[in-house]
Amino acid sequence: MKTEKGERVSEAEIAVHWQEEEYYQPPESFVEQANLTDKGVYERFSPDKFPGSFEEYANLLHWYRKWDAVLDSSHPPFWRWFAGGKLNASDNCIDRHLPNYRNKAAIHFVPEPEDEATQHVTYQELFVKVNEFAALLRDFAGLKKGDRVTLHMPMVPELPITMLACARLGLIHSQVFSGFSAKSVADRAADAESRVLITMDAYYRGGKLLDHKENADEAVELATKAGQKIDKVLVWQRYPGRYSSPTPLVEGRDFIINDLLKGYRGRRVAPEEMLADDPLFLMYTSGTTGKPKGCQHSTGGYLSYVAGTAKYIQDIHPQDVYWCMADIGWITGHSYIVYGPLALGASVVVYEGVPTWPDAGRPWRIARDLDVNIFHTSPTAVRALRRAGPDEPAKYEYHFKLMTTVGEAIEPEVWRWYYNVVGKGEAVIVDTWWQTETGGFLTSTMPALHAMKPGSTGPAMPGIYPVIFDDEGNEIPEGSGRAGNICIRNPWPGVLQTIWKDPDRFVGQYYSRYCKDPASTDWHDWPYLTGDGATQEADGYYRILGRIDDVINVAGHRLGSKELESAALVIPEVAEAAVVPVADEIKGRMPELYVSLKAGYASGEELEQRISDAVVAEIGPIARPRAVLIVPDMPKTRSGKIMRRVLAAISGGADVGDTTTLANPEVVAEIQKLHGRYELAHAA
Ligand code: WT7
Repeated sequence: MKTEKGERVSEAEIAVHWQEEEYYQPPESFVEQANLTDKGVYERFSPDKFPGSFEEYANLLHWYRKWDAVLDSSHPPFWRWFAGGKLNASDNCIDRHLPNYRNKAAIHFVPEPEDEATQHVTYQELFVKVNEFAALLRDFAGLKKGDRVTLHMPMVPELPITMLACARLGLIHSQVFSGFSAKSVADRAADAESRVLITMDAYYRGGKLLDHKENADEAVELATKAGQKIDKVLVWQRYPGRYSSPTPLVEGRDFIINDLLKGYRGRRVAPEEMLADDPLFLMYTSGTTGKPKGCQHSTGGYLSYVAGTAKYIQDIHPQDVYWCMADIGWITGHSYIVYGPLALGASVVVYEGVPTWPDAGRPWRIARDLDVNIFHTSPTAVRALRRAGPDEPAKYEYHFKLMTTVGEAIEPEVWRWYYNVVGKGEAVIVDTWWQTETGGFLTSTMPALHAMKPGSTGPAMPGIYPVIFDDEGNEIPEGSGRAGNICIRNPWPGVLQTIWKDPDRFVGQYYSRYCKDPASTDWHDWPYLTGDGATQEADGYYRILGRIDDVINVAGHRLGSKELESAALVIPEVAEAAVVPVADEIKGRMPELYVSLKAGYASGEELEQRISDAVVAEIGPIARPRAVLIVPDMPKTRSGKIMRRVLAAISGGADVGDTTTLANPEVVAEIQKLHGRYELAHAA
């Protein structure tokens, strides 16, 4: 294919029209107290110091036995970090903090009902609870090192307690996001062959006490059909001493943990001395095709990587109060609510419910009351808070020193609201790009060292060496601003070890594409494929253009969905935008743009026209949407991601498929109606 100027454009290349943004310098008050102010960090992690450089992260932990080799790379791509070393994650997140921080809060639990008291779990209490529950798991449930345990837990302190109790015994936990269906739990339990399910009777979400236990009954039934017998269901009580679910217990199978625990008072369990490459947990994630993959993360490499990155990027000190609004059921919560921050002795906030419950001021009241100084969330949440209460943050007295954004590229408009309004111009923002598979951050600015640039994730993390390939496997020149498939040249401690029980799929999914010699035992020949499109600008910062398949090809010009959406967000009324490709006879593909509005604005043709014009103004006439559809809300997954697949099906007049896993399935029919009306109005 050729561009207008006649240059060849590779299959991977995306036309990028996202304009350059201005830089923002980190505030002096932040720099003065930062963990990392030494530019020499990149020298310490230079390619010639690899892999020994990563000892800096491992040295943040307590090891029972030192590793024999920093990296055993003899069987690519099955890397063994800190091979021969022994440690325990629960010991590192709890026991070793006791001498200094015994009486400091490890977890501040904020229940969703605002009249219910916040609970403060000290490190000493965490120690007691984790030990007692570990004793129960071992002696009552008969679990032993290496067994897999499926968790289906909401955002309550019992979730990190359960994870850490598993880690103490060397059990491999597999937490399934509480909003996922019984079917997802069953599939994952069957894949992991776990015979114990740990759940909770009920939890609050959006003002309702949801019956959660009923999912366990269905999950056990479905798992049995899938060939996996679950013989024990352990149920935490949302209100200890009171069973809050209308679903009865099944005799001989279901047990109330809070009752059983009475028999384990005062029990202590010595942490298992785990090898660095013993698995710590599984985290299932969906790819573009096929069934969810059980990403297997290691004990030593993973814990070192999340501790190091939480220290340098999130600037966590033990005296900080850190709040990540993600759910612990996702990798963000595992790495940057539980394992990273607790390994550093921080105090973390666990919030049970919906951020905008009962109103959009809730997060800022929590921040004020708990004196939160580090905040972490996603662009989706920022857009939702901006939409529901653009002026709320200013009403509350709180001060963030650092804010993280993660999960998708953030539109510069939204970034600026996050910076100016949520952060009050006082907080550094780090835009962290990574994946379930990568364990921890891959790119981000160093908060005290680099200027921020809205919409850009910043340079690669120390010791991470990205490379952008075109579809033929040629390297796209560094800093050229040309798009391609971003890969990581080298192994790093946080990368997944394998896909549970499916090493072939692991190799095929992440390493085959750009491996020139499958027989090679040199790690240089095994770049890790992230599956994202990206550019690197002349300043060394990366921009993530989304999954490789999120690209819309209009008349041979590739438009990243994100840049179109970003353009729409320039219009002040617009809260969220999602673009999908529709077939067009002349241009091949055309974008259709779905937008939802901020509270208090009404749809209308004049507004549609202004949005359409804005896209043209920002990107060019080629990008003019075929239609701008103003919808009441976007179809969203329970994790808050916009389901473009559903919108694409509506635009293409195709079957929308299974929408039962959406957070708001009811909106689909409404959007279909709107789209139908649009087609009628514009027919002929
Ligand atoms: C995909 C991974 C890692 C925790 C949350 C998501 C996209 C992630 C960013 C960012 C642009 C981002 C990528 C990536 N993504 N962070 N800062 N800027 N895109 O984990 O569900 O495994 O999704 O999310 O496309 O591949 P995940």
